[in-house]
Amino acid sequence: MAAVLDVVRALFAPASTPAFVIDRETPADVVAREALLDRALGADRSKKSSEKVRKDRFPAQGLALVARDRVGHVIGTVRLWNIEAGVSREGQPVDALLLGPLAVDAAREGKGIGSALVRAAIVEAKKRGHGAILLVGDASYYERFGFFAKKARHLVMPGPFARERFLALELKAGWLHDAAGMIVASGRKFSRPAQRTVV
Ligand SMILES: CC(C)(COP(=O)(O)OP(=O)(O)OC[C@H]1O[C@@H](n2cnc3c(N)ncnc32)[C@H](O)[C@@H]1OP(=O)(O)O)[C@@H](O)C(=O)NCCC(=O)NCCS
Repeated sequence: MAAVLDVVRALFAPASTPAFVIDRETPADVVAREALLDRALGADRSKKSSEKVRKDRFPAQGLALVARDRVGHVIGTVRLWNIEAGVSREGQPVDALLLGPLAVDAAREGKGIGSALVRAAIVEAKKRGHGAILLVGDASYYERFGFFAKKARHLVMPGPFARERFLALELKAGWLHDAAGMIVASGRKFSRPAQRTVV
């Protein structure tokens, strides 16, 4: 029934409706987002070093975004996470963001949805006063947005990572200039319900 309604909605959508929109993620999107990530990145996605930064944390405020199709379905996702990007020369933690995962529904690839998600995330992060964004991903994709390995060269992920895939974008000039050391999660934690012991 839901599928029939979706077809009807699509048929009657005004011709001027854009093929997708970038929107804030809501709690109602979580199941669709997780299913999309499983399809795009596979079941091993939780074993990545980036997951150590995300585990049991909320994304950075206002920085969980989705792409929706004309009927509101989630067809893309990106989230950013609060981190400390090592410490400065004075020994102060350097606040930054870690981007990822980014994924787009395979049937919609190559239509600019991934780019729109990354650009919207950069704009929103800037607006919120963040100084830099880091990520682990393909340089050949992310360099177009200004992410480069050089900016992250004195930083390390908390686990195995490929140096050439560890990239950074400064939102404020020189933000990572003397940042060195390990990426540490600094986002708000959520508590898992305590496990009951059955006796
Ligand atoms: C990577 C991904 C998010 C791109 O989304 P998308 O909506 O297809 O991207 P866009 O339409 O904005 O950009 C398409 C362009 O990026 C290029 N591109 C896509 N993935 C790429 C990659 N991994 N490395 C280099 N270039 C890539 C395409 O060739 C295309 O190039 P063109 O503009 O010269 O034709 C999407 O393919 C995806 O979800 N992949 C699986 C999950 C994944 O790999 N996530 C990123 C982790 S690094």
